[in-house]
Amino acid sequence: MAAHFLFLALLALASSHAIASDPSQLQDFCVADLESNVLVNGFVCKDPKLAKAEDFFFSGLDKPRDTGNKLGSNVTQVNVNQIPGLNTLGISLARLDFAPYGVNPPHIHPRGTEILTVLEGTLHVGFVTSNNPNNQLFTKVLNKGDVFVFPQGLIHFQFNYGKTNAVAIAALSSQNPGVITIANAVFGAKPPISDYVLAKAFQLDKKTVDWLQAQFWMDNNN
Ligand SMILES: *[C@@H]1O[C@H](CO)[C@@H](O)[C@H](O)[C@H]1NC(C)=O
Repeated sequence: MAAHFLFLALLALASSHAIASDPSQLQDFCVADLESNVLVNGFVCKDPKLAKAEDFFFSGLDKPRDTGNKLGSNVTQVNVNQIPGLNTLGISLARLDFAPYGVNPPHIHPRGTEILTVLEGTLHVGFVTSNNPNNQLFTKVLNKGDVFVFPQGLIHFQFNYGKTNAVAIAALSSQNPGVITIANAVFGAKPPISDYVLAKAFQLDKKTVDWLQAQFWMDNNN
């Protein structure tokens, strides 16, 4: 009986670890003190007595963003850096704007699963699983009102293949999910990764690698 209980307790503990993304909080809230010099995992809390509604507020997500760039897309992040009250709460948001044929290039959120809903337009989206078993692509065309999930840590992308602008809102299971844009990290690393290494890794000749490394790899995240 005791062993049975212990087993259940351990199981509950294990599953709570498996489903939580950011660590769970130990108080109602911990509004980030973004100015503090104390470095912790996340941000230190400002005095809860000084917390205001403004600490939990952001405005302007209704405004279309400028997509007149190389990628034809613009991601507006609304995470702990924009809303300090999100500190320790394990959740954040983003608005995605796409020009016709604009792309949010293959990227990873190292710390969060993403759930995206299309508000306007048509998006071709997808994610790719880990090497084991087989880098399987899961892809879908989303219309207004459709929702799609990109599991934590997997490479994914969104492409507007409609003739009109597209807009989506994404929620992410981290106060600070992070973004690693694959091409930027690989070909735009500073200082650059050895072109010998990249030529071998990507089955390219060094000239092509040098050309890729000379490109401007823009970040569409704001
Ligand atoms: C995104 O849009 C905002 C406002 O429209 C603009 O200030 C910003 O430069 C744009 N970012 C990119 C990467 O184009």
